[in-house]
Amino acid sequence: MEVRVACFGDVVGSPGRKILGRLLPGFIREREIHLVVVNGENMAGGSGITEATYKEVREAGADVITSGDHVFKRSEVISLLEREPALLRPANYPGRAAGRGHVVATARNGVEIGVVNLVGRVFMGPAECPFLAAQDLVARIRQRTPMIFVDIHAEATSEKIAMGWFLDGRVSGVFGTHTHVQTADEVILPGGTGYLTDLGMTGPHEGVLGRKVKPVLHKFLTNMPASFKEASDWVLAKGALFTVDHATGRCLSVERVVLSDPGAGPTKVGGGFR
Ligand SMILES: [Fe+2]
Ligand SMILES: [Fe+2]
Repeated sequence: MEVRVACFGDVVGSPGRKILGRLLPGFIREREIHLVVVNGENMAGGSGITEATYKEVREAGADVITSGDHVFKRSEVISLLEREPALLRPANYPGRAAGRGHVVATARNGVEIGVVNLVGRVFMGPAECPFLAAQDLVARIRQRTPMIFVDIHAEATSEKIAMGWFLDGRVSGVFGTHTHVQTADEVILPGGTGYLTDLGMTGPHEGVLGRKVKPVLHKFLTNMPASFKEASDWVLAKGALFTVDHATGRCLSVERVVLSDPGAGPTKVGGGFR
């Protein structure tokens, strides 16, 4: 049996949440997706997660919501993390942090799929070793299911690629998040692990990583503080679709995904920077 798992990169604010609401249910139907994993660290106003934004994205079809360095930007996420097993924070945060970094979710076809959320340490804040955390959690989850997906939320491509090789043969898929830029290096590694360095962003692309251009340019040109409001146009949902063999957990295919509203694709926006 083939199992299809769709993963979407950092959801930025209301444009990101709304495009999932518009397009994710149809995508799940058409591609017969069994599990959807969404990185939601920027869901609330571009930074953090609230209860309302969590519910909105779950209702759009996300089964598991991962996060990253912005997870604790809104304090209400603390109780939400304690209540909602499908909402993850990085597993390699210090052990006393609220919430959990992994879950074994039940997919639409009834199979169990493990999801692990990690954060990188290169060019990022302090955290425990993501490699050792992954090794321990993957060994534990494999006692229940060979189908495991790992979100390594990290800045450095080297750290993410290294994680792919480290977990090759032990998990079904490793994908990166955090940079908001989709990479084009999807591959099935020799041990059978599907890999993509970054899923990209689910949000407005007519901006700088989801924020309006002008304040970001102002900051770069002057070093002066600026309020980075979320952008609004050229909204795309970017991610990857992994197809996995149920019995072995091996990845059979990995495909980059870009969902866009009809008529709102890159070509139109390419002429829209004026
Ligand atoms: Fe991040
Ligand atoms: Fe992000």
